[in-house]
Amino acid sequence: MFELTSTHKHLLAIGIGAAVAFVCLPQGQSTSVTNGRDLFDKAFHVADGLGMPEMNGDSCRACHQDPVMGGAGPLELNVTRFAHDNQGVGPFQNLPGGQGLSKLYSPNMPGREEHPLGPIPADVFEQRQTPSILGAGLIDTISGPEIASHEDPTDANSDGIFGVARRLNVGGTIEIGRFGWKAQIPRLADFANDAMAGELGITTPDNGRGFNTPTDGDGIADPELSQAEVDDLAAFMASLPAPTRGGSTDPRVATGEQVFTNIGCATCHIPTLMGNSGPVALYSNLLLHNVMPSGYRGMSEPGADVGFYRTPPLWGIKDTAPYMHDGRAEDLEGAILAHAGEATQVTTAYQSLPKPDQEALILFLEDL
Ligand code: HEC
Ligand code: HEC
Repeated sequence: MFELTSTHKHLLAIGIGAAVAFVCLPQGQSTSVTNGRDLFDKAFHVADGLGMPEMNGDSCRACHQDPVMGGAGPLELNVTRFAHDNQGVGPFQNLPGGQGLSKLYSPNMPGREEHPLGPIPADVFEQRQTPSILGAGLIDTISGPEIASHEDPTDANSDGIFGVARRLNVGGTIEIGRFGWKAQIPRLADFANDAMAGELGITTPDNGRGFNTPTDGDGIADPELSQAEVDDLAAFMASLPAPTRGGSTDPRVATGEQVFTNIGCATCHIPTLMGNSGPVALYSNLLLHNVMPSGYRGMSEPGADVGFYRTPPLWGIKDTAPYMHDGRAEDLEGAILAHAGEATQVTTAYQSLPKPDQEALILFLEDL
């Protein structure tokens, strides 16, 4: 079908390693969860409908793998979105076919950035890191009104920090986005459809919510997965336990938590939101903020302008380096210093802290 790139060979090598590491299934899980786990781990083949023609990997596990299956992905698995913004002058325009999350795609696909007949060339690119899915089932139980209750669209309290929920039109109803770097997907099950299409090139049935791709003309009968299989995949992701606290008894961890609140990290990385079965300790408000430096060029979507990203959850953060949507920060201090825009005052406050308080804050983050 195509030449294996060295990256893809690397993916396959990781895949074989991961498959061996995960043959033992935990006891007591429902059939749906174990079936969904098999699908998440499954290396799809062309005969299953893989690709057509764009694809970024041959399995979900190929990217979501650190520190366990369902986790985050390293820098070399980043995918790239691209569009046209007239060298930063604007207006921002998607290329035909929308923002590809492209890694392994056919460069001669019409309209894509290398196509000589494309009406406009891509001139703005944005890397996206693979986020961890651990605990996503709990995030899915946080209601829209709970998320919206923390919005501050006019900065009414004058702290320089705004925060708006991502609002998405789902079949005529407005829902609030929870998942993805720009909170572009409302429910975890919607991501099963979105990722099957966008990452693997696998078609799934239309459930009326609009996140699936129903047909792809690759000669394999559509839909390439059944609704029951999509439901199993969603059940597996929902079953992934949230990362647990490190439990360090070092007293500096408690000091670091105080610092986190005092200098304003907790304004956006709110320690808990209420889920339907109790508080969820995700350290995020799930709202969009612009923490990018001025002049930043990146992707724009209706309701999530250039530079706006969802506050990422910080639970399990010690295991998911590198950081930020594009992986531009190698370590936790680098991530703090990479905040600008709405978080400028908070970053400045961090830089003004005595060294022991800075160290305590990092120890706290490493314990999350
Ligand atoms: C090529 C690497 C890659 C593959 C393969 C992949 N993903 Fe992802 N995944 C990503 C990236 C990158 C994002 C962030 C996308 C964005 O927001 O732009 C993501 C985001 C997600 C999220 C949202 C997590 C959050 O909290 O925001 C879920 C859920 C998810 N993927 C599930 C899946 C499933 C299910 C599959 C298999 C059908 C899959 N992914 C395959 C790279 C990958
Ligand atoms: C104005 C809201 C806001 C404030 C204040 C804020 N953050 Fe963030 N934080 C964000 C957003 C938005 C991102 C994602 C930016 C991106 O992906 O480019 C982020 C990303 C991060 C990341 C990387 C997460 C990952 O998965 O890659 C860490 C770690 C982090 N913040 C810690 C902190 C700490 C510690 C503080 C206080 C010093 C802080 N943040 C203050 C909104 C905020």
